[in-house]
Amino acid sequence: MTGAPTPEVEDDGWAGANPFAPSFRDDPYPAMNQLREKDPVNETPVGPWRISRHADVVDVFRNAPTSQTLADGSSPNMDDQDRRGSFRDFMLNMDGPEHARLRRLVLGAFTPKALKHIEGEIDRVVDEAMHTALKQGGMEVVEDFALRIPSRMICRIMGLPEEDIDQFTVWTAARTNAFFARFLPEDVVEHTRQAGEQMADYFEAQIKLRRANPREDLLTNLIQSEEKGDRLGDVELAIQAIGLLIAGFETTIGLIGNGTKALIENPDQAELLKQNPDLAKNTVEECLRYDTPVLFNWRVLTEPYEVGGKTLPENAVLWMMLGAANHDPRVHDDPDTMDITRQGISHASFGGGAHTCLGNQLARMEASRAFHAFVSRLPKAEIQYDDCAWSESFFRVLGKMPIEFH
Ligand code: HEM
Repeated sequence: MTGAPTPEVEDDGWAGANPFAPSFRDDPYPAMNQLREKDPVNETPVGPWRISRHADVVDVFRNAPTSQTLADGSSPNMDDQDRRGSFRDFMLNMDGPEHARLRRLVLGAFTPKALKHIEGEIDRVVDEAMHTALKQGGMEVVEDFALRIPSRMICRIMGLPEEDIDQFTVWTAARTNAFFARFLPEDVVEHTRQAGEQMADYFEAQIKLRRANPREDLLTNLIQSEEKGDRLGDVELAIQAIGLLIAGFETTIGLIGNGTKALIENPDQAELLKQNPDLAKNTVEECLRYDTPVLFNWRVLTEPYEVGGKTLPENAVLWMMLGAANHDPRVHDDPDTMDITRQGISHASFGGGAHTCLGNQLARMEASRAFHAFVSRLPKAEIQYDDCAWSESFFRVLGKMPIEFH
């Protein structure tokens, strides 16, 4: 990984934007910008259509007749050979009342009111990270900061032991590949399947423990809501827990990691935030827009639908290019520039419609505290680009980013 690589944008059947090419993750924006401007409703060589303009992405989320699965109930992206721990049974892969019921069961734990009690805990973790970094004269941003905050918070909410965080880090990065496993090499997919099985073993054991000894945590709440008559079997329960752990872990590491990188690379913006703490919330929105960890998600049309002047057929798979929509100049002036004072930010980084990310408030709360502390409490920093690496995740998430202070 280098400081500011610009991959060649050439025609390779993917209109120069192959999301599975290793170079894509380094800097996807030149390629995605070109795709959006030249072919905003693009049929890929592997079947799905890519939707890249902001207005079209928002329209599909809000208005299109869609499902998360194909007409035969199978997933358009996931691995149909996946063994235990499969996302096929996670709420993100469900529609209608079945989806609404699973979402309702966990939603309560992620409302701003319910999250109020962990605000102090977030500050404690951030504080510890600042203290250690100052003592050491630098930090490895992912391990010491970006990973530490969301991992501790999601463990706390779900009631999982913090000693297992290292194991979760490995599993969750591997498991994000399951979302688009159909398009990935066999060795990556096999590794992902193994992580799924290990996570299923782990969570089924955690559920057993709580059946014997209920606690004050989200896992116990899920078991108890089942006992109140909203029946969830052990496997269904375990997969919601696995999905939540992954969703609450990997993506937020991406937001805090990518955002911290952007603030170091744009010192004028870091200084602005330092001088104006009130900009912390808007900084989070701008970081979500400027460099989102989740570059695309999917929908399947249940009826023909017109998108950007093309009528796409029933059962068409749409990949919603969230990163491309976020950089659409029709909505944001000078979109490739980071501007934490930008007004009216409208990013698609949390998806939309019935499946809009339900952890968005938690992610926002963690990131705003993290960014403000980083710029106000630490000296100016230099990224050690030669030692940076992406994580094993399918998402745009840093795995390693050492920095040294001036
Ligand atoms: C910056 C951090 C995050 C990003 C960028 C992100 C992004 C996303 C995206 C793109 C989706 C799919 C939405 C759609 O298909 O329309 C999603 C769904 C979801 N996210 Fe997040 N997420 C983040 C943090 C979190 C956190 C902290 C949690 C908490 C556990 C979480 C839980 C979920 C869940 C449960 C779903 C499925 C919702 C459903 O199907 O109804 N996410 N997220």
